[in-house]
Amino acid sequence: MITPKPTPPEAIPTEATSPKSASSKPSLLQLLALPIVPDAQKRLERHFNVIRLWEHSNPNAAMDEHGQNIAVLVTSALTAARTQLIQQLPSLQAICSVGVGYDNIDVALARERGIQVSNTPDVLNDCVADLTWGLIISTAREMGRAERYVRNNQWEQTISSLPLARRVSGKRLGIIGLGRVGLAVAQRSAGFAMDIRYHNRKPRTDVPWLYESSLSELAEWADILVVATVGGANTRHLIDQQILKALGPEGFLINIARGSVVDQKALIEALQNGVIAGAGLDVFEAEPNVPDVLKTMDNVVLLPHIASATLETRQAMVNLMLDNVDAFATTGKVLTPVTS
Ligand code: 8YV
Repeated sequence: MITPKPTPPEAIPTEATSPKSASSKPSLLQLLALPIVPDAQKRLERHFNVIRLWEHSNPNAAMDEHGQNIAVLVTSALTAARTQLIQQLPSLQAICSVGVGYDNIDVALARERGIQVSNTPDVLNDCVADLTWGLIISTAREMGRAERYVRNNQWEQTISSLPLARRVSGKRLGIIGLGRVGLAVAQRSAGFAMDIRYHNRKPRTDVPWLYESSLSELAEWADILVVATVGGANTRHLIDQQILKALGPEGFLINIARGSVVDQKALIEALQNGVIAGAGLDVFEAEPNVPDVLKTMDNVVLLPHIASATLETRQAMVNLMLDNVDAFATTGKVLTPVTS
């Protein structure tokens, strides 16, 4: 428990300059630094006594000291807020996360305890969809292999010529998960003369594309299958051996969602045995570990989970998280609550 220290009279702020002394403010546990938004710390400290956990040499001792009093937790989609952490925070009222995914947050426990959870939807749609197209093109056109060919001086030395890659324009694009990101991916296909179909929990009434209720039929139909669904238990290994077989030897798999959605072992086998043509992956099952065997393959493009990683988008994500913290502090309600 923190014992509030009495504020010396000369330090008492006026009404106009407002900020409460650290000791009289509720506590906020911050799990990650936010250097890309210069006023982020100031915004958090306006309403809260901020505990910056990574700065403590003994985080367990810091949790013992402050855990009881924490009202708000600031985290990210990857930094997480798992069961054990939430259980250590008996006064927790809000979890404000940077990122749209909440598969690493125990939302069920939060709901049970009446803890609000916010994420940062929409602000990353464009960048994630842009990168998806980058992956589609670089995978089908084998841009990674071609780039390595230049870097390794093979072009100058004409040791061997590059094999021909595959065309993107005019192909059939299957999208698994036509949510906000999936929709932005589909909209970008307009310039590529592509036919689009999608698979979702339920069909959408506001889009012109054909709904496929069967994932394996979508995979069979598609030349390029994009995974844009949410992660978590319900979608774990949705893409398995059977779906990869349905996608077939001319098909490409693109995953910008979560590594957990694809059975990685089955994917590696499919790539090794020509069951599918190639894969573009921004996410993996046990990040940051990428199986060495994938690194040796020329028919894959491997990225380190960077779909939202532009300065503009990451700033927008942090700012939306800060808006959620502000809204919670001033109205008692976060702005963009997780709704599932
Ligand atoms: C980021 C993400 O990696 O938003 C998500 O769910 O996975 C990514 O945008 C992450 O959230 C950055 O903090």
